[in-house]
Amino acid sequence: MKITSSVTRNYMLAIVLVCILCICSDARQVKPTEDAAVMKKRYKTWMKQHKKNYNNKDEWNMRFGIYQSNVRFIDFVNAQNLSYKLTDNQFADLTNFEFQTTYLGYKSRKRSSNQQHSYKAGNYAIPSSRDWRKKGVVTKVKNQGACGSCWAFSALGAVEGLNKIKTGKLVSLSPQEILDCNLVIGNQGCRSGCMENVYEFTMLNGGISSEDDYPYKGNQSMCNLITARKIAARITGYVQIPAKNESAMRAAVASQPIAVAIDASVPELQLYSSGIYTGSCGKKLNHGVLIVGYGTEKGVKYWIVKNSWGSGWGDKGYIKMRRGTSDKSGKCGISMEASYPVKNF
Ligand SMILES: *[C@@H]1O[C@H](CO)[C@@H](O)[C@H](O)[C@H]1NC(C)=O
Ligand SMILES: *[C@@H]1O[C@H](CO)[C@@H](O)[C@H](O)[C@H]1NC(C)=O
Ligand SMILES: *[C@@H]1O[C@H](CO)[C@@H](O)[C@H](O)[C@H]1NC(C)=O
Repeated sequence: MKITSSVTRNYMLAIVLVCILCICSDARQVKPTEDAAVMKKRYKTWMKQHKKNYNNKDEWNMRFGIYQSNVRFIDFVNAQNLSYKLTDNQFADLTNFEFQTTYLGYKSRKRSSNQQHSYKAGNYAIPSSRDWRKKGVVTKVKNQGACGSCWAFSALGAVEGLNKIKTGKLVSLSPQEILDCNLVIGNQGCRSGCMENVYEFTMLNGGISSEDDYPYKGNQSMCNLITARKIAARITGYVQIPAKNESAMRAAVASQPIAVAIDASVPELQLYSSGIYTGSCGKKLNHGVLIVGYGTEKGVKYWIVKNSWGSGWGDKGYIKMRRGTSDKSGKCGISMEASYPVKNF
């Protein structure tokens, strides 16, 4: 009895060790493989890593098919020694169409004279690089979930930065309040929105609540009017940076994080892992993100972009996007609709 149980224990221990080794070695690297068994093992490891559960065998098989085709694409791109890498992240079991319809939600609004301030170039020295994260001006990476609320995270990220710069307090603000309470200004909740709506709501409401007071549910619901009156940050206006001018954007980022819209529909962005994204892209703006800095690496200029797909996506939740493209619209249209909030008291 004793012998058996100790053998069993050792055997179990060995299995646990093998599992740990598998998880560690399979975690981020991408190996080309034609072998179905290897692919299946990799899929199971990935499922565990991302806590995926499917309702039935059919769904399991369908997702496995999509996963395999994404992995082939990842291997193909990574084999090209480009300035960026892809990985089988949490979106690796989604078709690109599913990804686009679930996680993108920016809808441009006609740029109007509603803006409170027009852009004026500041008269200050612009540093050659900037990273607002190092100055404690950026909150932790958020996860919008399966809700097209990127625009709320983008604009509030800019408000969080400005609030910290002006008041010394770094407070996570509430995109949920925007989803629930912004009933005046063309609110489509999880379906779509734009950053200007967020600034205007924040101004009309006399400010915005903190994430702690009004936590994120990833779902539009009833406005909690009591919590919405607890104000954590205020703004007095906002500025739309003139389109197609990355030097004006750089001047703005030198003084605070700014909200931008991009076209994030390509599979490279769905599965992005690290490096400077220099790949192909459209410019049909459909996703709101936040620029928190800029720099240059081996002669390639980039923007540091904070996303809202959790810290498991990309480079700990961030992506570096090529800056200074010959197309004045910028990489993925990044310079077409940039904006930032203003606080004058
Ligand atoms: C990959 O690219 C880098 C620089 O872009 C270069 O130094 C390196 O030799 C390349 N490696 C291969 C295997 O092509
Ligand atoms: C959103 O809210 C509705 C109703 O309150 C609920 O049925 C649904 O499951 C929620 N969805 C998510 C993603 O939480
Ligand atoms: C871009 O903006 C800057 C101000 O930062 C301005 O001096 C410059 O003329 C603008 N460029 C174009 C092409 O409009």
